[in-house]
Amino acid sequence: MLRNLYLTIIGLSMAVFALPQSTVIPLPQKTELLKGTFLFRSDMEIYYNSDELKFAAQYLAQRLSQSVAKDIPVTTKPGKKSRLKLIITQQNDAVAHAEGYELLISIENIAITATTPAGVFYGIQTLLQLLPADVENMDKSGQLTWRLPCQHIVDYPRFGWRGLMLDVSRHFFTVAEVKQYIEQMVRYKFNTLHLHLTDDHGWRVEIKSLPRLTEVGAWRVERHGQFGTREKPRPGEQATYGGYYTQDDIRELVRFAAERHVTIVPEIDVPGHCMAAIAAYPYLSCTGDTSIKVDPGTNFAEWHADGSFTMFVDNTLNPANEEVYVFLEKVFTELAALFPSEYIHVGGDECYKGFWAKDTACQELMRKNNYTRMEQLQGYFMQRVQRILDKLGKKMIGWDEITEDSLSSQAAVMCWRNRDIGYEAARKGYRVVMAPTAFSYLDYYQGDHLVEPPVYAGLRLSKVYSFNPCPYPELENMILGGQGNLWTENVPYLQYAFYMTYPRALAIAENYWTLDTLKDWNSFIHRVEIHFDRFDRAGIAYSKAIFDPMVSSYYEDNQLKVKIEAEAPLLEIHYTIDGTMPTLYAPVYTAPISIPNGQITLRVRAYRDKQPVGNMLIIPINMLKAPPYLR
Ligand code: ACM
Repeated sequence: MLRNLYLTIIGLSMAVFALPQSTVIPLPQKTELLKGTFLFRSDMEIYYNSDELKFAAQYLAQRLSQSVAKDIPVTTKPGKKSRLKLIITQQNDAVAHAEGYELLISIENIAITATTPAGVFYGIQTLLQLLPADVENMDKSGQLTWRLPCQHIVDYPRFGWRGLMLDVSRHFFTVAEVKQYIEQMVRYKFNTLHLHLTDDHGWRVEIKSLPRLTEVGAWRVERHGQFGTREKPRPGEQATYGGYYTQDDIRELVRFAAERHVTIVPEIDVPGHCMAAIAAYPYLSCTGDTSIKVDPGTNFAEWHADGSFTMFVDNTLNPANEEVYVFLEKVFTELAALFPSEYIHVGGDECYKGFWAKDTACQELMRKNNYTRMEQLQGYFMQRVQRILDKLGKKMIGWDEITEDSLSSQAAVMCWRNRDIGYEAARKGYRVVMAPTAFSYLDYYQGDHLVEPPVYAGLRLSKVYSFNPCPYPELENMILGGQGNLWTENVPYLQYAFYMTYPRALAIAENYWTLDTLKDWNSFIHRVEIHFDRFDRAGIAYSKAIFDPMVSSYYEDNQLKVKIEAEAPLLEIHYTIDGTMPTLYAPVYTAPISIPNGQITLRVRAYRDKQPVGNMLIIPINMLKAPPYLR
């Protein structure tokens, strides 16, 4: 016999029912459906009980009134119309976590309660995602007549660092564009924006005591075409392409982010990746080469099969030159004053040591310190940088190469090359932010390489979602969290940044917020499609690669066979190998197909409800016989 379970929550008695599929990303830790429905009404007010919540109240009012014909008032005086309540309490027994919140939707009102403004803000994001997709319309065409099933959500994040990295060096994004990027990420409860501010292709932050960094370093010659194949600057050619953030711009971005509970972590990438700084101040490099220019995307390095590389152009700071540390002290002192972030990212990745090896001062420094490996020279450099940050009261974080030589355990490690490097660093006592390429790189293409713009690797949504940031319970408190990294060599405008970021960032959001035991691919992919509708209404680009067929090939008894899968559910995949188009009337894929010998081309497309979805793939047989198709 079924027995109703009655709960008493804030004096109300409500029945608990089985839950329909959630619409919320990241999935909340606990949701109970209650009896009854809350009806939105046009005479509602948003009540908030503390000045600290003024921004949150106004944010909610603005998000609601963008889609309906009515401005929703906010008030600090509770009254009969205060049917949306935002409440800070000293203590909340339901959610002790600083970023946690409780969302109670009852027949009379909706209450979001938390111990911090951040918690209330996340409760608002959940509420907005529970509302129909109309809430994303920007045209005030809707009516405030939405209904929400009564429910009780108790939610908090698994990890405290939930981030995205935006590379603003390879391509410059304006203050307004970075704000839009932040606006979108906070909807999914991200709280960290890592800005990759400097690299070979541009220096993007004003340092007043070193004006040439932006006068020279922020600009390159304009070039088009595949990054890494572009023509070098010609003698005397004007560098006109680029841009930078003034210190006022940075203060504005930091303020905007902080209102939305986002910390901006700035990165100054040293000692490698420094061509823009060296173009501005040639004394920083070992060669002192004054002909070095900010790179417009030329081929200046050769990559070898073992993962090592040779640089043709010197893009490294000279670790044996004291003037370099004077420079770094100036940079980090101004940076520390601009960014309230506890951490400053100092890069440390992919530092080529060939020019150091030929430099007499570097050799002398190695002899003096009894170093036998070039990595020790980078270790020396990183320790000097750490001393500068220590003096400034900032913690250092760097790419995982910084663990190749000793650093104090105050430094945090951003794991990128592979996840085991991250867990190893955690075992050694470093705090770790996970961003392993194989699960986190948002510059990788996300569908089939034949239809996506060319990049050196691919990464599907399902692979991102499969990542558990910390499968070792004993290391969990050393893992600060993690992030997705959007490198922008091939990302020239903001909507394309969105296309590369979403929907993979939705998986990243859930990986770092939701407990691993609650994660479920089928539930997630269902919710992703609900959010596609919201992206469409909000005018934000995203990739539809989940609808593209995933083709792989293999040999069985010397016979070439093709397997076709897709990430989205409820697709019917039609294919042809006879030169015709894969229309709705072409064969339906049900099991691996044998590809006969001959001038064969596989054409394949997915349909749902008899409508084509996603891209059509056209793959000649010679391509099926080689990677990446051949497994
Ligand atoms: C990196 O991708 N070089 C950190």
